[in-house]
Amino acid sequence: MCSIIGYLGDIAAAQIVVNGLKRMEYRGYDSVGIATFFGNQILVRKGVGKVEEVNSKVKLYMLSGNIGIGHTRWATHGRVNETNAHPHLSSSGEIAIVHNGIIDNYKELKESLQRDGYRFRSETDSEVIANLLQYNFDTIKNIKDSMIKTVSVLRGDYSFVAVFPDGTLSAARFHEPLILGVGKSGYFISSDVLGFVQYTDEAIYPNNGEIIIINANGLQFLDFLGRPVKHEITKISREFADVYKGKYAHFTLKEISEQPNTILKTADNTRSELELFIELVKNAKSLHITGSGTSYNAALIAKHIFLKYAKIKIESVIASEARFYPDYFDNHSILIALSQSGESADVLEAVKMAKRHNSTVISIVNTMTSSLPQISSVSVGLNCGPEIGVAATKSFTSQLGILYKIADNIAGGHIGFDSQKISQSMKEILVDHSKIRDIAKILSYASDIYIIGRGIHYPIALEASLKLKELTYIHAEGLPGGELKHGPLALMDPSVYVIIINPHDSTNQENLASAHEIKVRGAKIIGISDKYDDTYDYWIKIPTISEALFPFIEIVPIQLLAYYAAVEKHTDPDYPRNLAKSVTVK
Ligand code: F6R
Repeated sequence: MCSIIGYLGDIAAAQIVVNGLKRMEYRGYDSVGIATFFGNQILVRKGVGKVEEVNSKVKLYMLSGNIGIGHTRWATHGRVNETNAHPHLSSSGEIAIVHNGIIDNYKELKESLQRDGYRFRSETDSEVIANLLQYNFDTIKNIKDSMIKTVSVLRGDYSFVAVFPDGTLSAARFHEPLILGVGKSGYFISSDVLGFVQYTDEAIYPNNGEIIIINANGLQFLDFLGRPVKHEITKISREFADVYKGKYAHFTLKEISEQPNTILKTADNTRSELELFIELVKNAKSLHITGSGTSYNAALIAKHIFLKYAKIKIESVIASEARFYPDYFDNHSILIALSQSGESADVLEAVKMAKRHNSTVISIVNTMTSSLPQISSVSVGLNCGPEIGVAATKSFTSQLGILYKIADNIAGGHIGFDSQKISQSMKEILVDHSKIRDIAKILSYASDIYIIGRGIHYPIALEASLKLKELTYIHAEGLPGGELKHGPLALMDPSVYVIIINPHDSTNQENLASAHEIKVRGAKIIGISDKYDDTYDYWIKIPTISEALFPFIEIVPIQLLAYYAAVEKHTDPDYPRNLAKSVTVK
């Protein structure tokens, strides 16, 4: 999704802004631009493509000035082109803005401003902010009041940073992330700490509905009514500095490889929040669990283990579908929300709906400074460090780690959650995965891949299909093994690859029967199992572990298959097309 950044300080802004945008690339985008304030005017350069591509074409770095703003755009309103890329200038060119989020009432505001003679260049909703600020500034001639007046009429969820005609930097936050960095060389405003962590580890997290004003007189925080707000400076966790690829070719590979450690860190989570979380789950009259994408797949596994081992029923609902089931929620129900980013709009929407029905919301989140913990009664952190690769990998196994830990606690240890054993098994897969790499090469030529699993392995089949399609752009579909005969067998022919998630457990024999049915129709079979079977055309061996714990380790070879198949196809595994790390729009 869009990333915004602003800087005002003693050193050249362009370099800082561009570096910040690069570090936030993982959020996903299609175009990029920056503006600086120099010699009493605003200079803008922008274009379509990655930061480096645009930079090599238009030399973003070369803009002069110590005040600057920057943006990476993920198109929502208007096509992907240079005109629609941010920053947007007001009609007169005196004010520039970068914006993240959506302005719901932009059409009526635009029409009204056009009637007053303000000119628009782009198709975006964002440009209305620039002209509205200009309109208010032209009338009020005061930055603080122009900001207050502007936010009083904007509808939607947004954060934006603006440069005013005297070089003042001002920002507003409403249901979209915005963080202020306080550095020795100046102030930074960004949608993500990664935008400035290179320069300072001191930050202020403004509340929702606040305005920031930075100029030669210093820094001010105001609420939307203009009342001053006081904030303490927080130290950013040092782990945020760990956002380099190191020896790895891609963040995705680095994050897959980190799992033997991150699973241990997750299991070490002994914070009091976890105890409270467990108490709430134990005593809940009705329980629901939600998430999107990978987080939802983790929710499906949670549903299975809570029922089987802790005898607790949890109803799962995909976050984007939750609004169609308002009757799920009442004052007796608890909603467990899972989200790596803590910013997925669908998840936040589901949570808000549950709260409107007086349900209690508890969450499991990786980015603890995000919106979800703020609107949850209790929030437990994944503790797996920043996940930069757009495809969720280590956050998935860490979500499982927390969920298993909770379920095992309630089940009196019946699951036998053993993070050391899981970590060791993951290491065994990762230490020499050249065979997986070879199979990924073959798979990269496939046009259809089906992934089959039964019981607790079915959500892994769904997660496998998500990883394969988002990283390789190959059509991939996860199926419960028993459903093959209800339709999908019609698709099996020699061009098809089928991955069977088939550990030697209670699902093994039925899966082998399915494998035979598939094989006689000519499709190729990749078996992921701790035990060889001659129906497999390719066998990916995984270590033996207890049935309940297999999901942790069977997902690792699948992540590697998806990653290496993407590398083989020359797609960028870290930034797959049309995807964003934080999906902050509905
Ligand atoms: C899959 C993926 C997405 C996210 C989904 C939810 O690899 O990255 O499907 O899982 O957008 O994101 P969070 O967990 O941040 O709410």
